Amino acid sequence: MQQTSKDGIRFVLDGETVDVGAVAPTTTLLDYLRARGLCGTKEGCAEGDCGACTIALGELDGERVRWGAVNACIRYLPTVDGKAVQTVHGLQNRDGSLHPVQQAMVDCHGSQCGFCTPGIVMSLFTHYLECDGRAATRDGVVGALTGNLCRCTGYRPIIDAGLAMHAYPTPDLDASAPALRQQLAALRREAALSLPGFHAPRTADAFAAAYQEQPESLILAGGTDIGLWTTKQLRELPSLLYVGEIAEFHELKHADGCLRIGAAVTLERALGALVAEYPALRELHERFASRPVRNSGTLCGNVANGSPIGDAMPALIALGATVSLRQGADRRTLALEDFYLGYQQKDLRRGEFVEAISVPLPQPGRMFALYKVSKRFDQDISAVCAGISLQVENGVIRVARLAFGGMAATPRRAAGAEAALQDQPWSADSLERAASALMKDFTPLTDMRASDVYRLAVASNLLRRFWLERESGVPARVLDIQPVSGEGQWS
Ligand SMILES: Cc1cc2nc3c(=O)[nH]c(=O)nc-3n(C[C@H](O)[C@H](O)[C@H](O)COP(=O)(O)OP(=O)(O)OC[C@H]3O[C@@H](n4cnc5c(N)ncnc54)[C@H](O)[C@@H]3O)c2cc1C
Ligand code: FES
Ligand code: FES
Repeated sequence: MQQTSKDGIRFVLDGETVDVGAVAPTTTLLDYLRARGLCGTKEGCAEGDCGACTIALGELDGERVRWGAVNACIRYLPTVDGKAVQTVHGLQNRDGSLHPVQQAMVDCHGSQCGFCTPGIVMSLFTHYLECDGRAATRDGVVGALTGNLCRCTGYRPIIDAGLAMHAYPTPDLDASAPALRQQLAALRREAALSLPGFHAPRTADAFAAAYQEQPESLILAGGTDIGLWTTKQLRELPSLLYVGEIAEFHELKHADGCLRIGAAVTLERALGALVAEYPALRELHERFASRPVRNSGTLCGNVANGSPIGDAMPALIALGATVSLRQGADRRTLALEDFYLGYQQKDLRRGEFVEAISVPLPQPGRMFALYKVSKRFDQDISAVCAGISLQVENGVIRVARLAFGGMAATPRRAAGAEAALQDQPWSADSLERAASALMKDFTPLTDMRASDVYRLAVASNLLRRFWLERESGVPARVLDIQPVSGEGQWS
């Protein structure tokens, strides 16, 4: 068992190091901030959806501080130990004048009732840092705002503020100042942070041993699923075992022809790396939750949670991903589709956990697409999600992997449709036969997101879309269709 630290939670809050006394481990960062009087950080939904609680979280990364927007409402306080938290309260210049992001919001009339404004300012602030002095682009600003709901101003003036913020004089706040780096370096710990109900091992071996010894603990990764169990369902949780302080779990690397993604790699990093290999995943990256949720949540958490409507699994299964499991010193590897046994049932032994996911790298001749169908573009749960991967050699389909979410109790392959494609010519007729076979592969549910009939129709139409996109060159997304010259822009 690794040594544990006797110190409590310590972090840098708006430039000042704070030492938190005894708190329940499920105390959210938002509750802590507001109890300290930092009520500029708002609570709207308490489930990561509205962005009113957005703060910037900074971590020492070599010689710089890496910042990202996160939702304070579902972030447990012990997980910010050793990090920097920047709230809207600490942005102003020393003479009381506003930070460029704030001033741009004022000048562009980006606020009406003001409830969403602190969260929007913090999302734009992290984007301001990301741009590193370069002017922001519209796509960049829109991407940074995917987690922020504004119900009264409308987004045009807010986006204008994001585009204008770099034109203002450099602010006093230097988010990578040597003083901050020193503060963060001073908070580094060698020993594990261990509090009643919360343990954060520092090595993979210590984590595996701790979980084997106490398999009744709950593994905590980004907390973007778990956070809601306490804020919304008011559940009492068992002792938490945190993956986030283990360097090996943050590894994202190429190994044995695969991209290997460790247990603590955030969705934002993992999806970014996957898009570099498979550009067809770009839309999934943009539409998976929101930037702040992706900055906390992990890919392994999505896989381990195993929701039938989880978005990562259809892509990963179609690409032939495997899951690396570990129980103490024992390791085994499973094809991801074999990991799911039934609704919320996984092939996980007592004390066993997901150490990494490995995704095979692209191969010549492989065609791949991922489609997410949901009511909203951003920050929405899929009605149907489809991963389609075909290997075509000399015009004949040699490998067909079709994986769907939202169609069954688990993410699942479409065995009948795959069989209909196997060793068949790459043709509209083959895809049509597969679309018919698909209707017998699943018996989906009707729920508030979609009816069973809709789900089946959409799933089979996605196969037709796959064919059309490749063969006819016709853009299959409304968003990709460019307005005819002279007929104005989409608004
Ligand atoms: C506003 C919002 C929007 C969302 N949108 C989407 C979306 O568009 N698509 C989507 O698929 N999901 C979405 N989610 C769900 C969530 O973000 C993802 O499921 C996320 O990937 C979970 O990862 P995490 O690290 O936060 O997991 P956590 O909440 O920390 O854990 C989730 C579960 O997995 C277990 N677990 C975590 N890591 C491991 C491990 N290494 N080994 C074994 N068990 C483990 C935990 O014990 C827990 O049971 C959304 C959530 C929110 C709050
Ligand atoms: S309060 Fe709505 S995202 Fe946190
Ligand atoms: S200004 Fe009112 S919600 Fe955005």
